[in-house]
Amino acid sequence: MAELLSVPRHIAIVMDGNGRWASKRYMPRIAGHKQGVDVLKRIVSACPSRNIGTLTVFAFSSENWNRPVEEVSGLMDILAMALSREVPKLQRDGVRLRFVGSRDGLSARVKSGLEQAEAATEGNSLLSLNVCFNYGGRWDIASAAARLAEAGTPITEASLSGALSMSYCSDPDLLIRTGNEMRLSNFLMWQAAYSELYFSDLLWPDFDETALDAALLDYASRERRFGKTSSQVSGDSANTA
Ligand code: FPP
Repeated sequence: MAELLSVPRHIAIVMDGNGRWASKRYMPRIAGHKQGVDVLKRIVSACPSRNIGTLTVFAFSSENWNRPVEEVSGLMDILAMALSREVPKLQRDGVRLRFVGSRDGLSARVKSGLEQAEAATEGNSLLSLNVCFNYGGRWDIASAAARLAEAGTPITEASLSGALSMSYCSDPDLLIRTGNEMRLSNFLMWQAAYSELYFSDLLWPDFDETALDAALLDYASRERRFGKTSSQVSGDSANTA
């Protein structure tokens, strides 16, 4: 693709639409999630050449436990299988994998899979891949506040921000949601405060590199003001140019 003037260093994605993709084909919902893993692999591979340093995806929300039991166990199986198949390749490709979310309620098999995958890739730095699993934005903020309160640390924007589970990385510049739904669904409630939002009509299993490039092109046309006026922002960029 043509070189873009402004590239998001960190993108976050709500991979929505797997169930609808499968239902349209008279397939079980879990078939959509399996196809979703293949798309995720392609998008992970596409990030480094587009200068994206961090990718954060929403794979399983705290609320997804309320889905039918066979879908929940299917998602756990998909995760376990994806880890055993993909971690060696991620390791070779310079991808650092981290799982963000509560480990409570996860089986011993899943927990040890997450730990092994994180340990195997911890030396990598080409792409940081955060997989939000058993995650909710409100859970993250409430847990951080509880830890600070227990330690007697005053709760400020800076201390809370530093206590969140993704404090090791910058906030997402661009947040993409597929599946033609326009909401955040409790994803990165703190970190997305100034993210540019991009909604795609495509169901996640139909998303691809071309669709990613369309989102990046759209992002490049945005003016990020962070609460300032347009002329202040252009003055800032003139000073830093
Ligand atoms: C939302 O689609 C998607 C999910 C709840 C799961 C996303 C998971 C993947 C893409 C696979 C990667 C997973 C792991 C475990 C690494 P939906 O089911 O809500 O779709 P719908 O809105 O069409 O029903």
